[in-house]
Amino acid sequence: MLEQILLSHSLLVKIFLGFLVGGLLIPFVGAKDPGGFRKASFIYTMIFQALIAMIAFVGIVALAMGEFSMTLSIILMIVVWIVMMYIEIRKYKLIKIGNLQNEQTYKLLKGAFLKISALQILLVVFMIVFKVMEVKGVISLS
Ligand code: HEM
Repeated sequence: MLEQILLSHSLLVKIFLGFLVGGLLIPFVGAKDPGGFRKASFIYTMIFQALIAMIAFVGIVALAMGEFSMTLSIILMIVVWIVMMYIEIRKYKLIKIGNLQNEQTYKLLKGAFLKISALQILLVVFMIVFKVMEVKGVISLS
């Protein structure tokens, strides 16, 4: 049972990673005009938050069932989770209130979208690599 929950947790993380990579297209495809960019960003941020909420929910269920001690590795996951949620909300707020009719602001926000996505992808990849190395016993933070 716990094994299945952990499997869903790591599967969700991989789906999330795929979503983040796909999201890199938004500043190109979804951004033919400022309205399209704003709308695509809204849909993107909704899916982002739904997926990341599921990851946390399943992670917390695993925590409750598994009698894990609060290892540094789990604390690291929670910190990464908070950081990702925080920058996503900040990013969407900027796109929502920014004056996209201004060519320069529009360009700046499209650039910011890409940079923030790249950072989020790096964080998730780092977390996956970290957990794999931990399982393999290369590193230990318990
Ligand atoms: C509130 C947030 C989270 C909680 C409570 C949580 C909890 C857990 C727990 C209890 C485990 C199993 C124990 C362990 O391996 O240390 C686990 C495994 C894992 N978590 Fe999280 N997690 C959270 C967020 C995240 C995030 C944001 C990521 C990726 C960015 C992530 C990636 C992973 C990975 C890759 C594993 C290894 C899965 C496996 O062994 O197949 N977790 N998590």
